[in-house]
Amino acid sequence: MNLKKKVLVVGGGGRENAIVWKLLQSQTVEKIFCAPGNSGAARIAENIAISETDIERLLQFARENRIDLTVVGPEAPLMAGIVDTFRDAGLVIFGPSKAAARLEGSKSFAKEFMRRHNIPTAPFRICESRRETENVVAEKDFPYVIKVDGLAAGKGALVIQNEMDLNAALAEIYTENKFGNAAEKVVIEDFLTGEELSVFAVTDGNRYVVLNSAQDHKRIFDGDLGPNTGGMGAYSPAPLGSKSVLEKVEEKVIRPVLDGMRSEGMPYTGVLYCGLMIDRGEPSVVEFNARFGDPETQVVVPLIESDFAELLYGAAIGKIDKTAFSLSNRFAACVVLASKGYPGSYEKGKPITGIDDNFNDADQPLFVAGAKFEGTSWITTGGRVLGVTAISDSLESAIDLAYRRVAGIHFDGMQFRTDIGKKAFQTKN
Ligand code: AMP
Ligand code: GLY
Repeated sequence: MNLKKKVLVVGGGGRENAIVWKLLQSQTVEKIFCAPGNSGAARIAENIAISETDIERLLQFARENRIDLTVVGPEAPLMAGIVDTFRDAGLVIFGPSKAAARLEGSKSFAKEFMRRHNIPTAPFRICESRRETENVVAEKDFPYVIKVDGLAAGKGALVIQNEMDLNAALAEIYTENKFGNAAEKVVIEDFLTGEELSVFAVTDGNRYVVLNSAQDHKRIFDGDLGPNTGGMGAYSPAPLGSKSVLEKVEEKVIRPVLDGMRSEGMPYTGVLYCGLMIDRGEPSVVEFNARFGDPETQVVVPLIESDFAELLYGAAIGKIDKTAFSLSNRFAACVVLASKGYPGSYEKGKPITGIDDNFNDADQPLFVAGAKFEGTSWITTGGRVLGVTAISDSLESAIDLAYRRVAGIHFDGMQFRTDIGKKAFQTKN
């Protein structure tokens, strides 16, 4: 394994920029391709114009170019079975199989799996029709949560506080059919109190390593107000993820998930993203994701000290070397700059000023999400536009450095949260 590797990163957002950026620091990487990538990835890797879900063409590209390792960023190709296809063709790929990715792709699968394996999560019921849902909720006290079974771009969890919320949810799900097939089943679960924490395990199905914890900021506005988004910023590590909390997460969540998936004949490989609620030091699973988070990757991955490509390769071939793994003792913060209107319909095509050329900076990388370099300037193309990131020796300084850079960037309608990382200094647990 001394040969340098050619790596293909699948995806085109801020998360994939961060993965490419980190892989570039690896001693064992010769060349990185990103499919489809974006204008940020283009500055540090070679973009390939193949969509992230065009598995056949990705496979053909990987074969023709003798790719040694493929790393999958987003959920869609995982759910579509990219890992199975590549493995069947004898290629090395980091991510879970289609069957294992159901931990993210189907909430009812994940909840029933947790029930079978005694993994702490909110009590729940699964309903397959409007009538069933109405019968179940008639017995429930507010608040509770209705979740559509399938993928819904982070918008499929509806917190029901009162009759009005309930009617709105029923209308969205059953009358307007807003979630389509994703809502053929819904999960109705108890509302959990506490504080949210994200914990990531990289696993070869058997062995695993735990990365630094992080906190995302899901709501659009400061103080966790307004609608849910894909994530408006993150920081790592989170004080809420204390040693004792992380030990509990390993013992009650990570190990039982890996053991359970193996015993059910679908070993889980790749990254297991545990979205948790921590209440008085006790973790409960809110959701699993079968991939790195966005924007959590932008803060978690920089804090891996050991060789990132080796870690992902080891996970992909079933041989993680735990002794070679180490984390840095630094801190990272990422502030997402978003377009006006996001997470609803948003504006595009706005010129961006103040973008420095720090796409490959070791401590202050700029991760591009929905932005494009056209002609001589940058313009916005997405809801989440940029992830301004800083890594430093204290969390205060990482946050401060990130916001100083934010102050120099501008586009029409730019919105961002001013309280990224504040929670770190207010943790009650
Ligand atoms: P999910 O799609 O399952 O990740 O849920 C999205 C967001 O809804 C979570 O990050 C939480 O903020 C919130 N949420 C989901 N389930 C619950 C729950 N059972 N109790 C409280 N909040 C929840
Ligand atoms: N930031 C949340 C996610 O990636 O699912």
